[in-house]
Amino acid sequence: MPTSSETTAIVTGAAAGIGRAIAERLARDGHRVAVADKDLAGAEAVATTIEQNGGTASAVEVNVKDKGSILAMVDTVIGWYGQIDVLVSNAGIMDRAPFLEMSEDFWHHVLDTNLTSTFQCGQAVAKQMVAQGSGGRIVNTASNSGIFGGRGRAAYGASKAGIINLTQTMAIELAEHNILVNAVAPGPTLTQVQTSDVLPDSVKGRMPLGRFGRPEEIAAVASFLCSADCSFVTGHTYAADGGFTVSGMLEG
Ligand SMILES: NC(=O)c1ccc[n+]([C@@H]2O[C@H](COP(=O)([O-])OP(=O)(O)OC[C@H]3O[C@@H](n4cnc5c(N)ncnc54)[C@H](O)[C@@H]3O)[C@@H](O)[C@H]2O)c1
Repeated sequence: MPTSSETTAIVTGAAAGIGRAIAERLARDGHRVAVADKDLAGAEAVATTIEQNGGTASAVEVNVKDKGSILAMVDTVIGWYGQIDVLVSNAGIMDRAPFLEMSEDFWHHVLDTNLTSTFQCGQAVAKQMVAQGSGGRIVNTASNSGIFGGRGRAAYGASKAGIINLTQTMAIELAEHNILVNAVAPGPTLTQVQTSDVLPDSVKGRMPLGRFGRPEEIAAVASFLCSADCSFVTGHTYAADGGFTVSGMLEG
């Protein structure tokens, strides 16, 4: 893995929320960042902010549900920077529906957007990394909901559980190419979508740290997993969740 001043990172879903925080953090770490999102105007605003703060970034439009769009994104980034060393597959949707009423279309929309996209982006970028021959880092954004069940999360939780297992197998098969693959599993994290109006206080009460996360706190974990310092860690999922997934009885 080259030093971070020579590395290029793609972050998907980087126009907003956790992806935006990861893109900004990786730029501060010294990576050139491709800010990838279906919201091109939003991605351009993030890239501009990064450049104004002294980083190097460009915006690229991608719909991660579409393999052709993913391949075009990879080609575009190679055209700009000549290489890809880091991928953060972060784009995702948190749509929820009751199990008994969940339509097949809804199921496929969530699985395609969250899980199949992680496979497609990971495979396209890993092929490029293998051809480059200098290793790489891939970080997939999972979720607490991929670790335990949750109301309304039949599709969402399955997509995120799939990402955790996919991360393990990618780590095994890509190890011989020195491509290290890990996941970060955020707990409830405040973004434009996940506001404190949406997240009930009863959830906070089950979190040992007693508060929701900030996108920067998820980015801090991703930063390490994308770095050259992360040289002996692969296949793992790091819950950044204020202790939510390990909390059992908090009283008595
Ligand atoms: N916020 C949380 O509490 C939380 C908790 C656990 C996991 N996560 C995961 O973190 C990731 C980011 O979540 P967030 O809260 O920042 O969400 P967000 O909605 O704030 O941002 C998601 C970004 O992904 C983009 N996106 C959505 N579908 C896309 C597509 N098909 N192609 C390209 N871009 C697409 C959106 O345009 C948006 O910019 C998701 O994978 C989500 O499941 C979030």
